[in-house]
Amino acid sequence: MADFVSQYWNWFIAIPTTLGILGCAWLVLGNLTDKGGGSSSETTGHVWDTDLHEYNNPLPAWWLNLFLITIVWGLIYLALYPGLGSFPGILDWTSKGRYEAEMAQAEEAYGPLFARYAATDLAVLADDKEAMRSAERLYASYCSTCHGSDARGAVGFPNLRDGLWAWGGEPDTIKATILNGRNGVMPAWALPLGGDDAVADVAEYVISLTGRKAETARLKSGQEKFQTFCVACHGPDGTGNTAFGAPNLTDAVWLYGGSREAIRASIADGRQGQMPAHGEFLGEDKVHLLAAYVLSLNP
Ligand code: HEC
Ligand code: HEC
Repeated sequence: MADFVSQYWNWFIAIPTTLGILGCAWLVLGNLTDKGGGSSSETTGHVWDTDLHEYNNPLPAWWLNLFLITIVWGLIYLALYPGLGSFPGILDWTSKGRYEAEMAQAEEAYGPLFARYAATDLAVLADDKEAMRSAERLYASYCSTCHGSDARGAVGFPNLRDGLWAWGGEPDTIKATILNGRNGVMPAWALPLGGDDAVADVAEYVISLTGRKAETARLKSGQEKFQTFCVACHGPDGTGNTAFGAPNLTDAVWLYGGSREAIRASIADGRQGQMPAHGEFLGEDKVHLLAAYVLSLNP
């Protein structure tokens, strides 16, 4: 509420709210007294269908009392909690404050546990059933949106349980991946290679690397181009390089799809997968636990 840039919005909320409550009070209190002059006038004078009279009975007491209670409740609420323009309320309650208090409480409860996990070697932690149960929950909250609830990934999001690593599968490397994030940079090759035909040649060569049947007429030119343009990152034999996150092209596992079209598209337009850094966001202790979890998926 304190975020209003001008007093206008403060009054825009505070005045109609106050008037609304006062209006309700006036409506109820105004109708408590019998204006018709007591029992002398039993009906309002409204008649329908020749003999259907509308009676002027007082409102039932339980209904009136409920209405009065809601008014009093509204006033108490607005005095205690934020709601009346920029008035913060006597309790100084804020959703941010509540969130922070709950986080502090959770930190107090689980902080020592995570700290103990953080002091445990990754490989040992990966075998700790209880720790992995906590880790699974962290994974579901922070990683499953991209890598899938079963960690098998999707197009553009790597499978984390197939034992194949673009950036390396050493425990500390996996931890570094999660802490600092990774940016895959596969340049677009359509222009440097000189057009679709050349891209198709290299694509056939890449297809042949996995042992699949490829168009033989294109292989020779494809191999030459691969040795010129691609070896720097994918290596002379196409098995990749974890220093650049350049994947192994010979294992028949494809981050962006293994169809002829998908491979041609990867080469022609390039690919830039981004694994966001989680270190600052989650803190090192939780990242440590998550790295052990990823390890545990790859026995
Ligand atoms: C500068 C390093 C670099 C060079 C040079 C390079 N690549 Fe890549 N390549 C990568 C990286 C990094 C990725 C992974 C991109 C990602 O993770 O988003 C990749 C991904 C690919 C993929 C997709 C793999 C998959 O699993 O879906 C193919 C296919 C590919 N490269 C082929 C080639 C070919 C053919 C050449 C040569 C014309 C080439 N690359 C040159 C770095 C490179
Ligand atoms: C916004 C989507 C996103 C989220 C959230 C995300 N990742 Fe990733 N992650 C990716 C992408 C994309 C890559 C592949 C980067 C590349 O192309 O090289 C990746 C790569 C990785 C790798 C490296 C895989 C390899 O082959 O080397 C690991 C390990 C990993 N993520 C673990 C995690 C964990 C654990 C979490 C949860 C803390 C997580 N990721 C959250 C998108 C995400």
